Amino acid sequence: MSKVLVVYGSTTGNTESIAAKVASLLEAKGAEVVVKNAADVDPAGLADGYDVVLMGASCWGDEDIELQEDFAPLAERFADMGLAGKKVAAFASGDSSYEHFCAAVDVVEAGAKENGAEIVAAGLKIEGGASDAPDEVEAFAEAVAKAL
Ligand SMILES: Cc1cc2nc3c(=O)[nH]c(=O)nc-3n(C[C@H](O)[C@H](O)[C@H](O)COP(=O)(O)O)c2cc1C
Repeated sequence: MSKVLVVYGSTTGNTESIAAKVASLLEAKGAEVVVKNAADVDPAGLADGYDVVLMGASCWGDEDIELQEDFAPLAERFADMGLAGKKVAAFASGDSSYEHFCAAVDVVEAGAKENGAEIVAAGLKIEGGASDAPDEVEAFAEAVAKAL
C-alpha cells in the first residue's frame, strides 16, 4: 500500500480543508495517508518512509510572495526533508485578485524538483476551500492516485 504524507500550512482553514479532502479521497482509493500541519513538523527527514508527499499552503503577501507563516520555515528547509526520489504534488488556496495567485504551488514544485523529487500531478490552485471547487479537488486526487 502506498504511504502518502499530506503537509499543509493554513491560517483560516481553507488549505487545511483541501488537505483533509484530498486525504480522504486517497484513503478511499486504498492509500495510507498521514496529514500534518506544518506548524507541528520537524522538516528533517519529514518525507522518510513515504512514497508520495503532498504539500500545500496559502500565501499572504501583496507584491511579494509570502508563504503562510507555518509553511514558510518548512519551505526554507526542503533540502532537509529527504525529498529525493519522492513523488510530490502541490496544492493551495488563494485569491485570484492577488498578483501571485496560489504561489505556494509554484514554490513547492520548484523546491521539490530542485531536491530530486518528481512532480506527479499538476498543482491544484483554488479560490477558497475544498467545498468551493469539489471537481478540481477530485481531479487532483485522481491524478495523484494514478501515481500511487
Ligand atoms: C493580506 C493578504 C494577502 C494575500 N496574498 C495572497 C496572494 O499573494 N496570493 C493568493 O493567492 N492569495 C492571497 N491572499 C488570500 C489568501 O491566501 C486566501 O484567503 C486563502 O484562501 C487563505 O487560505 P488559508 O485559510 O489556508 O490560510 C491574501 C490575503 C490577504 C488578507
